[in-house]
Amino acid sequence: MVKVLITGGCGFIGSNLVRHVLSNHADWNVVNLDLLTYAGNLENLAGLDKDYPKRYSFVRGDISDAKFINALFAKEKFNIVLNLAAESHVDRSIEDPGVFLSTNILGTQILLDASLKNKVERFVQISTDEVYGSLGKEGRFVETMNMAPNSPYSASKASADLMVRAYVKTYNFDATITRCSNNYGPYQFPEKLIPLMVLNASEDKELPVYGDGKNVRDWIYVEDHCRGIVAVAQKGKSGEAYNMGGDAEKENIEIIKLILDSMNKPHSLIKFVKDRPGHDFRYAMDFTKIKNDLGWTPQTTFEKGIKNTIKWYLENNQWCASVRSGTYKDYYQRMYGNR
Ligand code: NAD
Ligand code: DAU
Repeated sequence: MVKVLITGGCGFIGSNLVRHVLSNHADWNVVNLDLLTYAGNLENLAGLDKDYPKRYSFVRGDISDAKFINALFAKEKFNIVLNLAAESHVDRSIEDPGVFLSTNILGTQILLDASLKNKVERFVQISTDEVYGSLGKEGRFVETMNMAPNSPYSASKASADLMVRAYVKTYNFDATITRCSNNYGPYQFPEKLIPLMVLNASEDKELPVYGDGKNVRDWIYVEDHCRGIVAVAQKGKSGEAYNMGGDAEKENIEIIKLILDSMNKPHSLIKFVKDRPGHDFRYAMDFTKIKNDLGWTPQTTFEKGIKNTIKWYLENNQWCASVRSGTYKDYYQRMYGNR
């Protein structure tokens, strides 16, 4: 059996990844380590400990707590570490960058250190396309580009990528990096574009569009990203970074109108609001490398994925209500109240 640590397993991509691994890789045992911040929710994984009593366990803890991490690694002897734990929202990083540095940079370094000391065989750092910065109307991100992050969030992710590189070069440690575009699908916290717009539309609330809505993102269905992470863990080459994208570039306004149309809601709910500071104009991924070297391509079309996703949020009222209780209302008021 292979023992895998998935950090951030109670978040959006992490919870989809834990499910994906348990149902598709019978020889992998999963330990899910998560701090349960506002973005981490045990409900995302309800029932898994009963369905997989021998192959799945959850540990609550902080990746930036070195003492705790060192004790966990000494006890568990992981073969593989998949590091997804992070502060992940650009708008929050603009409001308060500090925790992005401690979790995303220091936390990654602490995991790398514990992995090195405890002879972890493969470390995968889950990074993002945002480390490359912003594109104009033409071109796509390739792995050989220089990093040029523009937000505190993307700067913290780029720093973590450099730390991974340093561990490979300095200590001959086995580590790889994935850089993926915007994910969408079930269990995404409704501070991100797609779930926020679906839930606001369902309540006939205004849909806040930053700037003129012409910014472009390359959307990938979360399950495709999860398959790619496993492919990199199994077959990726140490020291390499691998781009993933969905081949589905869309302007924000196009997605918002599509959501409204598919829910039979009027476009008059759209409200153009003050732009995000430093707002990256366009992301688009060239994923030729992972396609040629590891045989990965995205499988879910945007048309199919968005339909499933809208349906999921509308059918899972209880989950939506539960994750939006607590501090969500304060956040929404701070972010959109006077915008
Ligand atoms: P998320 O915010 O939904 O989940 C993050 C998880 O990390 C939460 O469960 C949270 O509780 C946990 N966490 C936060 N700080 C922690 C700490 N100090 N110790 C332990 N756990 C902690 O994020 P997501 O959208 O699922 O993203 C997961 C990873 O993928 C992140 O590293 C992000 O940078 C990267 N990524 C995300 C996207 C995207 O579109 N969402 C795209 C590319 C890459
Ligand atoms: O590209 C990968 C990245 O995608 C990940 O690394 C990040 O963790 C993830 O949060 C996401 O970042 P974005 O900033 O692209 O995602 P977000 O959903 O916040 O915004 C998508 C686009 O929609 C962006 O152009 C800003 C815009 N937007 C967003 C919100 C929340 C709006 O117009 N209105 C909104 O209310």
